[in-house]
Amino acid sequence: MHCTMIAQSVTVRVARKPMGSRVLRADRVIPRPRNAFKGRVAQFNSRTRGPTPCRAQVGLFFSTSTGKTEDVASIISKEMGTAEPRDISDVKVSTLADFDGLVVGAPTWNTGADSERSGTGWDDVLNDISGLDLNGKPVAVFGLGDSVSYGEYFCDAMEEVYRHFKDAGANMVGHWPAGDYQHEDSKALLDEGTFCGLALDEDNEDDKTEDRIKAWVKQLKGEGL
Ligand SMILES: Cc1cc2nc3c(=O)[nH]c(=O)nc-3n(C[C@H](O)[C@H](O)[C@H](O)COP(=O)(O)O)c2cc1C
Repeated sequence: MHCTMIAQSVTVRVARKPMGSRVLRADRVIPRPRNAFKGRVAQFNSRTRGPTPCRAQVGLFFSTSTGKTEDVASIISKEMGTAEPRDISDVKVSTLADFDGLVVGAPTWNTGADSERSGTGWDDVLNDISGLDLNGKPVAVFGLGDSVSYGEYFCDAMEEVYRHFKDAGANMVGHWPAGDYQHEDSKALLDEGTFCGLALDEDNEDDKTEDRIKAWVKQLKGEGL
């Protein structure tokens, strides 16, 4: 990447002079002129004179039917400072592997289903995702659902998305305590007290969304995202 291309000097091969003349050293190190990096100065840390480390690129992908997951994705993106959130239906799945880490979000519409639980764009790409090589990359999931009207299936799709990223070798982070919710059951529970990611309920508990996101993002930052 451009930010690792900085070198202090250039080695130039110098031709030998003809017979009788003094033999020059075959390799001479010629210092770069002082202003050779003009325009790239911003990439230097003035105190250490070393290259500034590149910032990790976190990608944020979602799907939605009525827009709530997209709205939440924007809030998470601002809180985290990720790249612009993208609808998973609009991207080539292979590009997900280009990011240093991922945050992904899905609503649940396909109530009670074993597979294709989201009922949105995620359902079309899940198999492609498990075929990616995301070895060790930190990935966190969030899900939107309705813990009252669909209380036995709360955020079920979140687990399906989680599992496919895990199958791709990702380091799944962002597990979230399930105590402060109204649901009766959910496939997204890793155990009785823990969701595999951040569960959000914009239908009944939108007043809790902002605080939940803030706390989750803080947690993610401590988990490598
Ligand atoms: C027909 C229908 C089925 C739904 N099924 C579920 C469900 O099984 N589990 C759940 O947690 N929420 C369910 N929901 C609630 C949605 O997931 C919730 O409203 C979500 O915020 C929608 O997100 P979106 O606007 O991004 O599509 C359902 C809603 C409707 C109208």
